[in-house]
Amino acid sequence: MEPTDWENKIKNLENANLILRQKLERSEAERSQLEVQNQEKTFLLKTVCQEFIESEKKLKARMSKLEKALENQKAMQIKLIEAEKMSALGILVAGIAHEINNPVNFIYGNITYVNDYTGDILKLLEMYQNRYPETDAEIEDFIEKIDLNFLREDLLKTLSSMKVGSERIREIVLTLRNFARVDEAEKKPVNIHEGIDSTLVILQNSIKEKPGLRAIKIVKNYGDLPKIECYPGQLNQVFMNIINNAVDALREQEKQSSTDELEANPSLIEITTSVISNNWARVSIKDNGLGMNESVKAKIFDPFFTTKPVGHGTGLGLSISYQIVVDKHGGRLECISAVGEGTEFAIEIPIVAKSSS
Ligand SMILES: Nc1ncnc2c1ncn2[C@@H]1O[C@H](COP(=O)(O)OP(=O)(O)O)[C@@H](O)[C@H]1O
Ligand SMILES: [Mg+2]
Repeated sequence: MEPTDWENKIKNLENANLILRQKLERSEAERSQLEVQNQEKTFLLKTVCQEFIESEKKLKARMSKLEKALENQKAMQIKLIEAEKMSALGILVAGIAHEINNPVNFIYGNITYVNDYTGDILKLLEMYQNRYPETDAEIEDFIEKIDLNFLREDLLKTLSSMKVGSERIREIVLTLRNFARVDEAEKKPVNIHEGIDSTLVILQNSIKEKPGLRAIKIVKNYGDLPKIECYPGQLNQVFMNIINNAVDALREQEKQSSTDELEANPSLIEITTSVISNNWARVSIKDNGLGMNESVKAKIFDPFFTTKPVGHGTGLGLSISYQIVVDKHGGRLECISAVGEGTEFAIEIPIVAKSSS
């Protein structure tokens, strides 16, 4: 080959090489541009994903907040209805007690006179009989017919049992008035032992001995309490709910016990009151019934929680009691219980109410 041929060939090759290099550079530039674009897109995608996750989280949180608010509202509504019912019942009871009070006082007040008058008439009869022992046949017949000797004896006995009866009605009326106290507008200083006692009178029917059931023993250890500033009607409702539950637990335990066990361990409710510090009073209501396990204990203050058969429990007693003690009185309501160890409820409330509550 001629040297010029070589040169031409080399030139051609160089040209081709240049073109190739230029092409390479261009595609390199395109590649890096694509890469940048790709990075931008990935970043955008990631941000969108992140935002999505965050808004999902927020949504979930709001949902659960809403659910909770709804639950609270439901519970509040039920408590309100129940409180309304109780106050309507209180007004009814107080009204009936007030109406019965007057007629009972007529009977009670007049029995003493009837007693005296009857005594006088009987005395007069006796005087006549002594002065005029001889009577005519008609009177003799009548004396025999009415069995005068029996009548004399029985009349006084009847009157005295009527007196006892009317005294009892008076006491019950007084108790009902004390229990139902409809004076809820503001807190009042009261003797809470009276409230506990009237609650016990009202629950007498479930505490006393009945066919197939023994009487539940009530032990009162009342301390030296000053008057407590509270809503007495509401506090009585708390005593009522807690003592009622104790009775239920004891009766349930009795069903599961043998006569020997009942003999050795009779059903008992112990009520202890004391001042625990300068402005705090404590009422403890303790039973030796079945007790509760931890999982039941954790839920007793929840509205509607009950372990009782349908129709027996509403599951509202303790949730309402908690509200009354803690929210309305700024107090504490505590439960100490274990399976087979019985149960104690401790109500602690300020003696002089805090002005805010
Ligand atoms: N003294 C107690 N002994 C054992 N369990 C109790 C006692 N007091 C309450 N409980 C438990 O607490 C639950 C809730 O009580 P409460 O709110 O009064 O509702 P209810 O009496 O209608 O069931 C009861 O069902 C029972 O399981
Ligand atoms: Mg109850």
